[in-house]
Amino acid sequence: MSHPRSRVEVMHGVNLDMLGRREPAHYGTLTLAELERQIGEFARQLELEVGFFQTNSEAEFVEHLHQLSGSADGLLLNPGAWTHYSWAIHDALEIAGLPAIEVHLSNVDGREEWRRVSVVRELCVACVSGQGVEGYREALVRLSKELDG
Ligand code: DQA
Repeated sequence: MSHPRSRVEVMHGVNLDMLGRREPAHYGTLTLAELERQIGEFARQLELEVGFFQTNSEAEFVEHLHQLSGSADGLLLNPGAWTHYSWAIHDALEIAGLPAIEVHLSNVDGREEWRRVSVVRELCVACVSGQGVEGYREALVRLSKELDG
């Protein structure tokens, strides 16, 4: 049976449209389209419905968060570099008021000092990082538990 609350929005931020061209040691070799296909497959197995959004515009990212209530039950969020400094995204996430999981392909805590800071983490129920594509499966599992609970 599918979850009563099962609509998950997967939001990718700045430079994630460049997957496939970015350092494979950190981000793997999949393009964003391939990553989204894989996430769609994980979601199908978990009986979740997924929507996808990516932008390089911080304003569009914020506006998308504003418009989510009513159309999504939860969020996976990989804001890219905005993670580390965008208080505007922090505030928009707070306004969205949905359970959210922060996801990073790379291990943000094992890289440069500035990547260890996340301004969205305190608003998220969990953070999954450094597990590449598989991290999105873990994040969906974690989120579906949150939505069931
Ligand atoms: C990232 C990590 C960020 O530090 C970086 O700026 C990105 C991608 C990740 O998925 O590992 O753009 O969020």
